[in-house]
Amino acid sequence: MNFTDKLNALKKEKDVAILAHYYVDEEIQALADYVGDSFYLAQKGRELTNKRIIMAGVYFMGETIKTLNPDKKVYNLNWLADCPMAHMANEKDIVDMRNKYDDLAVVTYVNSTIETKALSDVCVTSSNAAKICKKLKEKNIFFIPDKNLGAYVSEELPDKNFIFNKGACPRHNQISKEDLLALKDLHPRAKVLAHPECKREVLDLSDYIGSTKGIINEASKSSADEFIVVTVKAIRYELERLNPDKTFYFLDKLTCLNMNMHKKEDLLTCMDDPFNEVKIDEDLRQKALKPLERMLELGK
Ligand code: 13P
Ligand code: SF4
Repeated sequence: MNFTDKLNALKKEKDVAILAHYYVDEEIQALADYVGDSFYLAQKGRELTNKRIIMAGVYFMGETIKTLNPDKKVYNLNWLADCPMAHMANEKDIVDMRNKYDDLAVVTYVNSTIETKALSDVCVTSSNAAKICKKLKEKNIFFIPDKNLGAYVSEELPDKNFIFNKGACPRHNQISKEDLLALKDLHPRAKVLAHPECKREVLDLSDYIGSTKGIINEASKSSADEFIVVTVKAIRYELERLNPDKTFYFLDKLTCLNMNMHKKEDLLTCMDDPFNEVKIDEDLRQKALKPLERMLELGK
């Protein structure tokens, strides 16, 4: 049996669905049943009826699915693949902010730990953050952990008072305007599509700003045929699959070291490693469920 036959047999025997983020290796994306951005993966993860779900992404993605769909066995393809930004918000800052403002909503990017989610009023992803913040009745918004996404959203909602903390994606945040200008010099006709986790100086040079799915949609519907894409390079697979006649350029250093940890061979063995199965204390899960469900409701 070749690899795909073995995987299909395992999926059938164990009743497994495989979910993957656009940032994982293209071979894994090609083998997955569902591929998407973090909002889509949360929505899909909640509705799946398979007994087992394998999540090829970073740790919080598997944790989010387990929170929303607790009766299923959820496995991270490799539990060591974590998102560093998820750990850049802390309980003390949330408590302090709640003491400071009566009229406060704690808005937490899904790239966060379950403990942080449990203390939050609502979760957001990059595809729905502005839409959700707009619907909140509170004037003051403590947006954690991503200061870049928060700043981008705040510009769309001048009537709200945004407060940020210091978190950022180490991969997107390292990109400077000089990096982008150098690539623009090489490809002056290319449209620039950027993820809102980038710094303001990069977003200022961009023609479109959006989530991974937003970037894919924009490239697909645009009449342009050349694009500079300022997000993790592995998104190239889906961009080229959908747009074989268009050309995409990337910043070489924009990789995600954590998403890169996944290997397709692990699809056959990840369910054997007890560390990969997501387990969540029920009280904590119930607390984190509320802001996640609110996101799915307000963000749809
Ligand atoms: P998306 O929500 O756009 O998929 O982004 C997730 C992420 O981790 C970006 O770095
Ligand atoms: Fe986290 Fe950045 Fe990787 Fe996205 S690209 S998963 S925010 S480290």
